[in-house]
Amino acid sequence: MREERDIVSLNRQAWDRVADTYDGRSKVIVGGLFSEFLDSVTPGGRVLDVGSGTGEPYARTLVENGFDVLGIDVAPRMVEIARGRVPEAEFVELSMTEMEFRGEFDGVLAVFTMLLLDPPRFWDVSRRVAESLREGGVFYLVLNEPWKEGEDVDGDVFVEIMGEEMYSRGYTLDEVMGAFEPLGMERIGFHREVHVTEEFGEEHVVEFLFRKS
Ligand SMILES: C[S@@+](CC[C@H](N)C(=O)[O-])C[C@H]1O[C@@H](n2cnc3c(N)ncnc32)[C@H](O)[C@@H]1O
Repeated sequence: MREERDIVSLNRQAWDRVADTYDGRSKVIVGGLFSEFLDSVTPGGRVLDVGSGTGEPYARTLVENGFDVLGIDVAPRMVEIARGRVPEAEFVELSMTEMEFRGEFDGVLAVFTMLLLDPPRFWDVSRRVAESLREGGVFYLVLNEPWKEGEDVDGDVFVEIMGEEMYSRGYTLDEVMGAFEPLGMERIGFHREVHVTEEFGEEHVVEFLFRKS
């Protein structure tokens, strides 16, 4: 039997510790679908950034594009940094596993955050994301997918990143679609690319755009 660990607390502690040095990646917008997300959300609408990190570059770009932004993050230091960097947005300390919004948002994004969840929490947070959107609202999701031949996706999930142990798991296309499609989320965009960085090594990055019907 696999070891049962409190992965939300583990990740909260790890991300709190790396918050001050996380800048390298957080300044870069990944892939090509984010601009489609910006174009798909009702202009001036309310957007939820799930795992908002330092607020850069996503919350900042959203604010600059006229959106009303709420960022949530489990790590207190991330929230503190984001408030300083993007004062025009609102940031609160909250785990995505605890969020309970109901049809309040025109757009939701989760960039490299839902991969920090184990499968039961992933399914649960998928439901919370869908519930937080208005009908016609758009969800932008960025994750890593498993790519090594014969990889046991649940075998190597406690990883050391930037010197801190944390939980991180790749999700296959079928798993993501299996979570969101039954929630009435229609896929309207998809993109794949490979990234290599010092902090995270080789990552096979997948981007999804869903619309709530
Ligand atoms: C890889 S960073 C991504 C930050 C930002 N989305 C970006 O792309 O720059 C992951 C973020 O998710 C946050 N996080 C981890 N577990 C979380 C949880 N359960 N609920 C909310 N945020 C969480 C971390 O504190 C961290 O800020």
